Amino acid sequence: MSKIFVDACLGKETPYTPVWMMRQAGRYLPEYMKVRGEAGDFLSLCHNPKMAAEVTIQPLDIVGVDAAILFSDILVIPDEMGMDLEFIKGFGPKFNDPLTCQADLDRLIGGEVAANKLTYVYDTIKLLRKQLDERGDEIALIGFTGAPWTLATYMIEGQGTKTYNLCKKLMYSNPELLHNILREVTEVVKYYMEKQIEAGIDVVQIFDSWAAAIEPGKYDEFSWKYMVEICDHLKAKYPDTPIIMFPKGIPAFLDNIYGNFDVFGVDWSTPMALAKEKLGDKYVLQGNMEPCRLYSKEATTACVESLAKTMKEGRHIFNLGHGILPDVPVENAIHFVAECKRASKR
Ligand code: CP3
Repeated sequence: MSKIFVDACLGKETPYTPVWMMRQAGRYLPEYMKVRGEAGDFLSLCHNPKMAAEVTIQPLDIVGVDAAILFSDILVIPDEMGMDLEFIKGFGPKFNDPLTCQADLDRLIGGEVAANKLTYVYDTIKLLRKQLDERGDEIALIGFTGAPWTLATYMIEGQGTKTYNLCKKLMYSNPELLHNILREVTEVVKYYMEKQIEAGIDVVQIFDSWAAAIEPGKYDEFSWKYMVEICDHLKAKYPDTPIIMFPKGIPAFLDNIYGNFDVFGVDWSTPMALAKEKLGDKYVLQGNMEPCRLYSKEATTACVESLAKTMKEGRHIFNLGHGILPDVPVENAIHFVAECKRASKR
């Protein structure tokens, strides 16, 4: 039996439009908070395959989504390259020795050696594969990575940033070093995603969460081309594994989207009708409800109906236009998923 989510990624007809939510395993779920408490902290949870698998599965039964997304974080990659990741309560991720020069980059672990250190991720996937197969409900498992650019922003700034000034200083005054960093990360990501596929994921999503920080004329050079390189590499080996690209906040770049992937993730700032006009013939579209609509059931239903209408004749997967926030009532998330299924039933 084929999985409805995988079928939709490949543009096949499905009984309704499948739905999942970015950050669907997270702090809005009391069940997640309980397991995170038992693990001790967020990174310990990522490092514990049994617990990571448990929180990956939670939203399937509680919210009713059609796909599970591996519970981990994009920043485990630079952590295993030797950058020593910390998550500080109330602040977010932090690297204490951000990259400032070629010598800093040369000290990192690269390629397959770095990817081989992420065994806890592959072990979580293997466990999930077994658990999902045993459930027999044909739920797809999504694996993921950060885009090289988004990962590089944390490696260079050492933390989240509003201005990206250190990255942009490199972009305009030392692009060679920035490209060296992006190339190094791209190589690790290629091996990392191959190993996730080998361990049992059904679909790949590449998150370029901080795409909007780059001016449109430079976006291809510093981000998109590396994401496409990862797609080409994976498609040559695993042509049947669908790939979802999610570059957040780049409506001005839609005319320049190219590459061998299956699904384009539309963020909430880009009108779905515009994405459909520009990309709908070439790619399946995923998205894109403004996540804050989840605070109101009425606002949620209105958006779901409008998206279903816009995408009636198109190839679509429902999702939010970015991650769900921690203070959203669980019942509203349940409502969103049920409304997507109702409004798109064929
Ligand atoms: O449910 C899922 O979507 C799967 C798990 C997942 C997490 N992070 C868990 C997480 C995924 C896919 C990510 C990706 C991720 N991580 C991205 C790209 C997606 C996006 O949202 O744009 C980024 C930029 C990160 C980096 C990151 N991780 C930040 C900035 C933070 C702190 C912000 C916050 O919400 O606290 C994290 C922590 C994080 N990653 C949490 C979760 C559930 C919260 C940790 C906790 O308090 O339990």
